[in-house]
Amino acid sequence: TRPLTIAIDGPAAAGKGTLAKRVAARYRLPYLDTGLLYRAVGRQILAGGVDPDDPQAAARVARGLDVADLDDPTLRGHEAGELASRIAVHAPVREALVAFQRGFAARPEGAVLDGRDIGTVICPHARVKIFVTASAEVRARRRTDELVAHGRRDVEYGRILAEVKARDERDSGRDVAPLKPADDAHLLDTSQLDIDAAFRAACDVVDRVLAAQDGH
Ligand code: C5P
Repeated sequence: TRPLTIAIDGPAAAGKGTLAKRVAARYRLPYLDTGLLYRAVGRQILAGGVDPDDPQAAARVARGLDVADLDDPTLRGHEAGELASRIAVHAPVREALVAFQRGFAARPEGAVLDGRDIGTVICPHARVKIFVTASAEVRARRRTDELVAHGRRDVEYGRILAEVKARDERDSGRDVAPLKPADDAHLLDTSQLDIDAAFRAACDVVDRVLAAQDGH
């Protein structure tokens, strides 16, 4: 049987990570959060005093990235995400990270990868592509609630909403690998869905694709 490669893309704070992790567990597949790669590169650029707006210097850091560098819980934070989206606009940085992502996706059983360009650039032949969205307002609300649940007091919905929109614009507006659904992606709008309902909808998509392909 063909490897089951599942590409899950979408904007910041759409719930891709949680969804992708659950889908990976359900189909017993390895999971790669590709945002972590960009976050780790951003972090090392900062630590090394490298100019994040210099594409070649940033790409040198990206080429030196080690998987062990991904094992850092502070990478999930907001600052790392902002820096990640700033260095992710550079084509040479993106190219430096392609081989690792494709290598991960080429495992014999398949894999689940989440990011911005998995269905369009990294795995254009993925068997299943899901593009997860939610309105900017819903995503900002979820992000705000999450931060408050983690004990943060200085969170303000209005500021988070502005940040979510700014990140959307940067990720969608860039020249290289902009955030956009692949032509053959299944759109999953989670604005009205909680995580369980979103997970069921994603599994429905996977099961339908599998059933249709098995029938041929
Ligand atoms: O998904 P996450 O919020 O961790 O990603 C951080 C940033 O990394 C994104 O805003 C985006 O600019 C960049 N990114 C990307 N391509 C990916 C994954 C992340 O450009 N496949």
